[in-house]
Amino acid sequence: MAKMEVKTSLLDDMIGVGDMVLLEPLNEDSFINNLKKRFDHNEVYTYIGSVVISINPYRSLPIYTPEKVEEYRNRNFYELSPHIFALSDEAYRSLRDQDKDQCILITGESGAGKTEASKLVMSYVAAVCGKGAEVNQVKEQLLQSNPVLEAFGNAKTVRNDNSSRFGKYMDIEFDFKGDPLGGVISNYLLEKSRVVKQPRGERNFHIFYQILSGASEEFLCKLKLERDFSRYNYLGLDSARVNGVDDASNFRTVRNAMQIVGFMDHETQSVFEVVAAVLKLGNIEFKPESRANGLDESKIKDKNELKEICELTGIDQSVLERAFSFRTVEAKQEKVSTTLNVAQAYYARDALAKNLYSRLFSWLVTRINESIKAQTKVRKKVMGVLDIYGFEIFEDNSFEQFIINYCNEKLQQIFIELTLKEEQEEYIREGIEWTHIEYFNNAVICDLIENNQTGILAMLDEECLRPGTVTDDTFLEKLNQVCATHQHFESRLSKCSRFLNDTSLPHSCFRIQHYAGKVMYQVEGFVDKNNDLLYRDLSQAMWKANHSLIKALFPEGNPAKINLKRPPTAGSQFKASVATLMKNLQTKNPNYIRCIKPNDKKAAHIFNEALVCHQIRYLGLLENVRVRRAGYAFRQPYEPCLERYKMLCKQTWPHWRGPARAGVEVLFNELGIPEEEFSFGRSKIFIRNPRTLFKLEDLRKQRLEDLATLIEKIYRGWKCRTRFLLMKKCQIVIASWYRRYAQQKKYQKIKSSAITVQSYIRGWKARKLLRELKHLKRCNEAATVIAAYWHGTQARRELKRLKEEARRKHAVAVIWAFWLGLKVRREYRKFFRANAGRKIYEFTLQRLMQKYFLEMKTKMPSLSPIDKNWPARPYLFLDSTHKELKRIFHLWRCKKYRDQFTDQQKLIYEEKLEASELFKDKKALYPASVGQPFQGAYLEISENPKYKKLKDAVDEKIIIAEVVNKINRANGKAASRIFLLTKNNVLLADQKSGTIKSEVPLGDVTKVSMSSQNDGFFAVHLKEGSGAATKGDFLLSSDHLIEMATKLYRTTLSQTKQKLNIEISDEFLVQFKQDKVCVKFIQGSQKNGNIPTCKRKNNRLLEVAVP
Ligand SMILES: Nc1ncnc2c1ncn2[C@@H]1O[C@H](COP(=O)(O)OP(=O)(O)OP(=O)(O)O)[C@@H](O)[C@H]1O
Ligand SMILES: [Mg+2]
Repeated sequence: MAKMEVKTSLLDDMIGVGDMVLLEPLNEDSFINNLKKRFDHNEVYTYIGSVVISINPYRSLPIYTPEKVEEYRNRNFYELSPHIFALSDEAYRSLRDQDKDQCILITGESGAGKTEASKLVMSYVAAVCGKGAEVNQVKEQLLQSNPVLEAFGNAKTVRNDNSSRFGKYMDIEFDFKGDPLGGVISNYLLEKSRVVKQPRGERNFHIFYQILSGASEEFLCKLKLERDFSRYNYLGLDSARVNGVDDASNFRTVRNAMQIVGFMDHETQSVFEVVAAVLKLGNIEFKPESRANGLDESKIKDKNELKEICELTGIDQSVLERAFSFRTVEAKQEKVSTTLNVAQAYYARDALAKNLYSRLFSWLVTRINESIKAQTKVRKKVMGVLDIYGFEIFEDNSFEQFIINYCNEKLQQIFIELTLKEEQEEYIREGIEWTHIEYFNNAVICDLIENNQTGILAMLDEECLRPGTVTDDTFLEKLNQVCATHQHFESRLSKCSRFLNDTSLPHSCFRIQHYAGKVMYQVEGFVDKNNDLLYRDLSQAMWKANHSLIKALFPEGNPAKINLKRPPTAGSQFKASVATLMKNLQTKNPNYIRCIKPNDKKAAHIFNEALVCHQIRYLGLLENVRVRRAGYAFRQPYEPCLERYKMLCKQTWPHWRGPARAGVEVLFNELGIPEEEFSFGRSKIFIRNPRTLFKLEDLRKQRLEDLATLIEKIYRGWKCRTRFLLMKKCQIVIASWYRRYAQQKKYQKIKSSAITVQSYIRGWKARKLLRELKHLKRCNEAATVIAAYWHGTQARRELKRLKEEARRKHAVAVIWAFWLGLKVRREYRKFFRANAGRKIYEFTLQRLMQKYFLEMKTKMPSLSPIDKNWPARPYLFLDSTHKELKRIFHLWRCKKYRDQFTDQQKLIYEEKLEASELFKDKKALYPASVGQPFQGAYLEISENPKYKKLKDAVDEKIIIAEVVNKINRANGKAASRIFLLTKNNVLLADQKSGTIKSEVPLGDVTKVSMSSQNDGFFAVHLKEGSGAATKGDFLLSSDHLIEMATKLYRTTLSQTKQKLNIEISDEFLVQFKQDKVCVKFIQGSQKNGNIPTCKRKNNRLLEVAVP
């Protein structure tokens, strides 16, 4: 859902007044009360025009969340309640959209929340500016530079647990789209005296404590440090631990931040080595040692620490030791070496520690700048954030406080200049008349300090450079002479001093009335600190160190670059850098955050009115409001003004069609606001008195209530009407639906009634028709019945008549017959008695026979000769007839069957019959032969050219031509022979050549012998003495034995008219040449299937093994 744009204003739900300009009446009390009221309601930010007053809440408030960032993003400055984000947003958008470089000046005393505010500004800008991997890295580096600098540059003071001990100005650079490109950090004068000495209740810089608490044992060992704070003279012990500060975890944060910013590991290592060296320097102690010339010379008490420092930093121990004992002064060509006494040695040691540390800090800033500097050369837009040490007043204020407070004077100066200038410029821009307003201008104090001739800094420099004995007292004397008359300078020793009797002002001090209060400065140490002298021997010793970082920190130690000119003093350096800063700030559009500290206890919820009042005074906030209100208290562009108040006038409400200015004019005239109360600028309306604005606000509030009522009324009316219309619509819908439903019901009822009536009528009609039809049908039926009856009656009558007639005729016939019979019987009675019995018997017999045959006709079995069926005999007396009839019928049908045969078939069956007679139940081979047709010529002698020779030799008809096995008479082995039977002969021929081996006339064949078994072995016995019988009888074996024997038998019978003797026996004799041999059949193995195997056992026995 799109977010609804709601135009709000800081005037909505305001606690007190959000903008002090609107404060009425305007005086110190109301000012403070307003701040207090808002502070009590957690409203820590209040505006004076575009200046943000921020009161340190000393506790975390839920007003810096990402949601808050989103809330303030792209909103107008006065649209929401005062917030540092509103100022940041305004500055960022003005930079991005109007191309104006910005600076955000955060001022306030120590602990007022400047550093926190600067971080909030940076984090807000980081959150709202562009995104992307590269941009995010830049942002992260910029943000992470803070923890590093805070660790090295911040310390706990009595005023602030995280007090910035250096000034910081950071330029964040953006490209034309508003994406951050990088940044440049400038640092201002680190309070280095803290390194060697801290006031009571304060600490050294955080990093010393962090390293000792957070570094690992291993790392500490590397740095030759011990975890115990009390081991180090430079660490103030009374407040080494700070409540709510975890040094160890902060150390990890710092290391992580250094990594993110881009410090290499060796660089980080070097930095911590220098820190460790500084810490250990404090432990070097000196003792006096008398010399021959009677002067005291300092000697290092325990060289162990020195040795470790030298190991850590790579400095030659003897060089450093000498640097702590001697001082070489070079003047022109002369070099004079003097010994240092113990005090001088301690001075040298501390100077070295301070210098090492402060130079390390500057190096860190340079190194960070190197990392975060923008990588492009395109024109950049710049937003500067200034977080400088706050104005501070301690019990003992020294050179550092003087410098710090001077800086704050300058900032106040620029604030006055810029706010006034801006205000003035606005009036001129808008064409409004401007009258000058009186306010305290601190330019006079700035002049007291920085004036080139008579300024305190100039005096100090002059004193430092002056030949002769120069002490802090001579410097004070000089001040007393030069500044005595200055109204902001106070000293007891100045000529005709007003403070001669002021005991609160010691003789060794001078007091300056700063814009923020009077500060008394101890003059002791001013000259030294301004000189910032480090003995050349020490800087040279450092330069000689085998440690790249330390070497780089002391370039002046390089003998090749020896410079006898005095380096610029600390004061003049600072003055110059502040001047540059001021110049820089003047080129930018200023945005002010004025931080106020609510109490001295660093505690939440406490609002110390006196303390706040003091700050308000010296910050000149009331004057700021007055200046802002001098001309006009409130100003606003015409468009938002018209938008806000247009409901107060009929002409402008709800819409004004015309220029906004004309609308505002009409509006103000209509409201009757006196003319002196407002002025029309070019783009803005200027309201002189806040009362007028409040009146407008009240009217608006009243009007808004009225409008709300009106809106409510209209809304309610609309709601009710809408509801009514809806209900009406609903009612119509319901009614129409109901009517429809009712009509439907009615219709259905009528329809069903109509259907009922209709069905009744139809039913009635149908029934009537049915009745008629039935009647008709009945009439027809009745007619038919009547007719039938009538016909029946007629028929019956006729039948009766016919029957009567027939009966009569029959009666006549019967009577006639009876009469005739009577007549015949009377006539033939004498003949009948002799023949009647026999005749009746014959007649009955005849009838039964007739019936028997007629029945048989229908019960006859089939004509198949093998059909064994025959009907049962009906009468016993016909038994023989019945059997005879069966026999006759069978013969008849056999004859019928035979009559179908051709001559050839007859021959075959004759042969088969012959075979049956010869072998049936005699030879076991026979049953298998029944189904085989007798073919005779198994070898096609006449067709096959192979047998041509044989065919030529035999000219008779061949009855059998078959291959047989001829058994060798001597050994019983078988040889194949062609067996031929012709009309007259039996022939055996060679199977391969067809040469006839034996030819026996049929007359010479006397007998054929064979076994009763299932074998094809047979012997052909020949007539003794015949030509063929010389070799003896033939022993043969054939698969077609039955056929061959049958055909041989039949042929022999037809030729010789003699029956061939066929002997069937399992033992018979055969003639072999002269011998008779017994052929004996035994049941043998089945090795050769059906073929018998013969074995000649001896001269008399041949064994035939049959299967
Ligand atoms: N907006 C804030 N919300 C919560 N706590 C704050 C806020 N501003 C400041 N503080 C608290 O006040 C302490 C001091 O703030 P800060 O360090 O910013 O002061 P300073 O003005 O920078 O002081 P100095 O001049 O000594 O550096 C912070 O450490 C923090 O605890
Ligand atoms: Mg600070």
